[in-house]
Amino acid sequence: MKEKNQKPIWFKEDGIVCAIDQRRLPHEFTVLELKTVDDVIHALKTMVVRGAPLIGLSGAWGVYIAVFSAPVSENREEYIKSECLRVKNARPTAVNLAWAVDMCLEAVLEEKDPASQLRIAKEKALWVDDYESENCRKIGVNGLDIIKKISEAKKGKTVNILTHCNAGWLACIAHGTATAPVYAAFDAGIDVHVWVDETRPLNQGSRLTAWELGKHGVKHTVIADNTGGHLMQHGMVDMVIVGTDRTTRAGDVANKIGTYLKALAAKDNGIPFYVALPSSTFDWTITDGLKDIPIEERNPDEIRYVQGFNDGRIISVLVPPENSPAADYAFDVTPARLVTGFITENGVCGASEKEILSLFPDKKR
Ligand code: MRU
Repeated sequence: MKEKNQKPIWFKEDGIVCAIDQRRLPHEFTVLELKTVDDVIHALKTMVVRGAPLIGLSGAWGVYIAVFSAPVSENREEYIKSECLRVKNARPTAVNLAWAVDMCLEAVLEEKDPASQLRIAKEKALWVDDYESENCRKIGVNGLDIIKKISEAKKGKTVNILTHCNAGWLACIAHGTATAPVYAAFDAGIDVHVWVDETRPLNQGSRLTAWELGKHGVKHTVIADNTGGHLMQHGMVDMVIVGTDRTTRAGDVANKIGTYLKALAAKDNGIPFYVALPSSTFDWTITDGLKDIPIEERNPDEIRYVQGFNDGRIISVLVPPENSPAADYAFDVTPARLVTGFITENGVCGASEKEILSLFPDKKR
C-alpha cells in the first residue's frame, strides 16, 4: 500500500509547497520544495509534476506562490496577473491548468488587501485538492459498476484492463482517474489485472502506473507500447480505461501519444474503450479536438535518450544514431466515435455532446 494519504503535492509552510519528483520514480523517492513561481514553472515543464488534475493543482499553488511573492506596491496586481499568466502557459494541452489558474486568480483579485489575497489563494488551492480528490473517488465508484458487470459476465474470471500512460493518484491527486475504478474493483474483491503500456518516451506507464499498482497490490504486467493490438486480437483485454488531458464538449479526447492507436485497435476488436475524467478536464469552449486542442511538442532528447536504473543510480542512455533527428509529440486526439463512454464524477455517459451534457446540464448553451 502507498503511505496513507500521500499526495503528489502539498502545502509545507508559508511560501513553500512540496512535490514528489516524478522524474525519479520508481527508483528514487525524492521531494522537492517549490518556493518561487519559477520553481513551479520548472516543475511543470520538466514533469516533476504531471498529469492533468495535478497540473491544475500545481497551477493553483503557483497562484499562491505568486501572491506570496508579490510586492506590496501599486504594481502588485499587475505582478500577480503576469506571474499567473506565466504559470498558465507552462504546458499547453491539459486544460486543467487554465481552469485552476483562472479560477484561483479571479478569487484572489476580488480581495484588495495582501493578507486576504494570500489567505484566499491558499484556501483555493486546498479547495482544488479536495475537489479533485473527491471527483476521483466518485469516478472510482461510477466505474466500478462497469468492471463488476464484466467480471459477472466472465463468471468471476480475471478482468483484464489495458491502460496507457499514468492516470493514477500521482497524476490526479488521489485515487486517479483511469485507475480509480481499478482500485475500487480490487478493493471490492474483484479479480483484476492491468496491462500497463510502458508509454514512451517518458515511460509514465512502466515507471509510475506499475509502481502505483504494485504498491496497492493490484496484479499488473508492463508491456511495450505496440503490444495492445496483439493482446486484443487474442481475447486478452476485456476493456481499456485511459485518462485525458483535454476533452471537447463533443467527446474528442486528447491523451498521451499512442492513445489513438489503442482506441483504433479496441474498436476493431469490439473491446470497450472508456475515458475517465473529472469535469475540470472538459474544455467546454471547443467541439473539434483535432482542430482546436493544442498538442504539446517537447524536447526530442526525450525520444533519443532512455532513462533507467543501473548500479544504484539513475542514468540516461542514447538510443538512435547520434545525428538522427527525432520528434516528440506528447499527445494525440482520439475522436469521439472511438470512445465507448466517459466515466466522470457525475456518472457514466456515451461520447456525444448530448450525452455529456446530460451529466453536466449547466454547460448547455
Ligand atoms: O505528459 P503527462 O505525463 O502530463 O501526460 C499525462 C497523460 O497524458 C495521462 O495519460 C493522462 O491520462 C492525463 S492525466 C489524468
